[in-house]
Amino acid sequence: TLKIGSLTALAAGIMLAGSAFAADPITIKFSHVVAENTPKGQMAEKFKALVEQSSVGDRVDVEVYPNSQLYGDDQVLEAMLLGDVQLAAPSLSKFQKYTDQLQVFDLPFLFEDMDAVERFQNSPTGKQLLTSMQDKGLMGLGYQHNGLKQLSASEPLRVPEDAAGKKFRIQTSDVLQAQFEAIDAVPLKKPFSEVFILLQTGAIDGQENTYSNIYSQKFYEVQPYITESNHGLIDYMVVTSDRFWNGLPDDVRPALEKAMQEALAYGNSIASQENQEAKQAIVDSGKSEIIELTPEQRQQWVDAMKPVWNEFSDEIGQDVIDAAQAANN
Ligand code: LMR
Repeated sequence: TLKIGSLTALAAGIMLAGSAFAADPITIKFSHVVAENTPKGQMAEKFKALVEQSSVGDRVDVEVYPNSQLYGDDQVLEAMLLGDVQLAAPSLSKFQKYTDQLQVFDLPFLFEDMDAVERFQNSPTGKQLLTSMQDKGLMGLGYQHNGLKQLSASEPLRVPEDAAGKKFRIQTSDVLQAQFEAIDAVPLKKPFSEVFILLQTGAIDGQENTYSNIYSQKFYEVQPYITESNHGLIDYMVVTSDRFWNGLPDDVRPALEKAMQEALAYGNSIASQENQEAKQAIVDSGKSEIIELTPEQRQQWVDAMKPVWNEFSDEIGQDVIDAAQAANN
């Protein structure tokens, strides 16, 4: 009986271990702030689908939380370091607490187009920036495009003087603050989830964002003018915690890395079209007028905002700025 008893115990133990294994997959919470029908939202969904189809599909559960449902960008990185969330993709304007270098992406009128952004992100300097927060425990897995920013407002903005005295919501970036101060406007750092209500109530006069965000957050419904300035960038870095990622089983991590690279390739391939479609939908709505600048008008914005580069060259590093600028050619 002793023998049978211990065999039964052994069998029960194996079954328990087996069921614990099956019932306890690795959960990856992916938190972001935008809608699902955006370049970042689509990339996150793609990652989830690719993991499900992969060799580790039964061992890893990806849960995507869009629309600031789980965390806003001001809390998500702290939550990540505490182990409460495993993936996030904040805009490159939101890492200032963790590194100065990424502020290069906020410099106004730095990139001529998205091809230049792509070249810079793929350059040795761009790749090195993925590791710029390693001493803080954060690891960059790759870049996701959104696109170039436009200025929306309650009144038409054609020259920098039109923005003087007006309140603009900005992301949590000192470069963006300096950019609006350079045109005598009043920048206010506010979470993305609050922008619509601030615009709707008239608490602020305007904001800067991509067509994709202006459309999916319905900013265009409460902003009668959008100036097509292409003055800056909204792109993202997918980040995870060093501790979490390197603590993954060695037979799981490569499959997740592969899924992430494929998801990013997909997300990046649709970003520019998503923005074009969003622009067209705004035009079709008739709710907001898109203002095209003459070359002379645009030059006035460049002249007013570009001095900001010098203010931040020590913090960012002139070498990083030079590398980004070199990507324009
Ligand atoms: C914003 O706060 O305006 C953007 O960073 C939102 C986003 O993630 O695109």
